[in-house]
Amino acid sequence: MMPPDSLETPRLLLRKPRPDDAALIFQSYGQDAEVTRYLMWRPHTGVRDAQDAVEKFLNGWNSGTQFCWLIFARDTGELVGSIAVRKDQNGINLGYLLARSHWGRGLMSEAVAAVVRWAFEDPSVFRVWAVCDVENPASARVLEKTGFVREGVLGKWSLHPNVSDIPRDCYCYAQTRLN
Ligand SMILES: CC(C)(COP(=O)(O)OP(=O)(O)OC[C@H]1O[C@@H](n2cnc3c(N)ncnc32)[C@H](O)[C@@H]1OP(=O)(O)O)[C@@H](O)C(=O)NCCC(=O)NCCS
Repeated sequence: MMPPDSLETPRLLLRKPRPDDAALIFQSYGQDAEVTRYLMWRPHTGVRDAQDAVEKFLNGWNSGTQFCWLIFARDTGELVGSIAVRKDQNGINLGYLLARSHWGRGLMSEAVAAVVRWAFEDPSVFRVWAVCDVENPASARVLEKTGFVREGVLGKWSLHPNVSDIPRDCYCYAQTRLN
């Protein structure tokens, strides 16, 4: 599997990060404690943290193990979020975030749908799955709206350090290949 450097939806451009995106990431969402609340990392305290993140994204692309796209609004060119896939047993795992000022407009559902469509074009992908904190209803709703089925709760699955020092229970959602 080698993902394309970019994907387009009616409102969004998803593209591979570049080193000079770090300042934008920091400004747009990296330092926002509301955005990172249910994520596995603490808010960035400076552009250096965003630079480290971009370096990690590019290492993922280079090693062919995980692929993060930054999400831009096509009309304004603004950075609005990111979405990432990690190769996993029989498919991929999905993670995403959106800058707070862009929540509630259906943008992430649009991005997730495009990535899922792309993923199932690859005959080696049988399963696309994602988890979200049991207290993150907006994320659960995005997954339900884009056709994921809730398979259950993974107990103490993921450490979300902005909420607790104890790993959190997460809903597990998946879509599987139909044939
Ligand atoms: C989760 C997130 C990506 C959603 O993005 P978005 O573009 O606002 O999502 P959409 O507009 O496509 O859909 C959100 C849905 O959740 C619903 N929703 C939002 N907040 C909710 C809440 N507190 N309770 C119940 N439903 C909620 C919205 O009404 C909408 O559903 P609808 O279209 O049926 O009305 C965004 O909130 C985000 O970036 N959060 C922080 C990062 C994060 O938690 N990422 C996911 C980690 S698993």
